[in-house]
Amino acid sequence: MRATKVRTGVDTAIRIANLRFAYPDGVEALRDVDLTIAAGEKVALLGPNGAGKTTLLLHLNGILQGKGDIRIMGQPLSDGNLKRIRGQVGLVFENPDDQLFSPTVFDDVAFGPLYMGLPREEVLERVRLALEQVGMEGFEERLPYHLSLGQKKRIAIATVLSMSPAILALDEPFSSLDPGARRELMRLLQVLPQTMIVSTHHIPIIRHLFPRTVVMDDGRVVADGDTEAILADTALLETHGLEVS
Ligand SMILES: Nc1ncnc2c1ncn2[C@@H]1O[C@H](COP(=O)(O)OP(=O)(O)OP(=O)(O)O)[C@@H](O)[C@H]1O
Ligand SMILES: [Mg+2]
Repeated sequence: MRATKVRTGVDTAIRIANLRFAYPDGVEALRDVDLTIAAGEKVALLGPNGAGKTTLLLHLNGILQGKGDIRIMGQPLSDGNLKRIRGQVGLVFENPDDQLFSPTVFDDVAFGPLYMGLPREEVLERVRLALEQVGMEGFEERLPYHLSLGQKKRIAIATVLSMSPAILALDEPFSSLDPGARRELMRLLQVLPQTMIVSTHHIPIIRHLFPRTVVMDDGRVVADGDTEAILADTALLETHGLEVS
């Protein structure tokens, strides 16, 4: 592994040590993953299909539980504090149909704040702000099920923004977005203060948004460091089935 940066201390947002995970059919999707992300960092997760990116992201709020150690904002991820961790890690699935389940957009975006027990006025304000942030004001009464894929993806992001999480873990948020929506999302991610880990295959977006890139292949972190250095390493990229277009 190249250019590893190990960060420690109280400003650590995510700390993963020796994480291993196999799906029930025996596929080893994560093999000894170590990853530490400081508060405020914006990190891209890059890797070929099947590398383990989605599997890793699903561990960050305990949807999948492998062997090893995960700490979120200093707290170990365990069954006892899943609710708290889920308020801190806003995980957005690649497929918005996995995220949206309410009869209206409003209900989906309000779900998290209501679950947190916030007062009605604050819930309304959070929903308004989250929809504004993703450019979906006016969609409150629409059926999520009837929206276009790109619109659903934006609403899915709003459902976690409304919880004001400390960490955003986004799985391929740019796929299926038209160029305008992609630019808007890039602008949004640029200004949001949260710690971010974002999987994407879009190299230009990685270059533009993420100072640090983590490359995964075959369940392992194979490179971790400065984005420009990693994207300039054509041998590394070729070895792992990636290319800078
Ligand atoms: N539900 C599942 N059951 C069994 N194996 C799975 C399951 N989901 C993923 N896998 C396997 O785990 C490995 C990692 O998959 P994962 O979805 O994490 O990759 P990825 O890096 O997100 O790929 P992509 O770029 O295609 O989204 C792959 O070998 C995949 O086939
Ligand atoms: Mg994936």
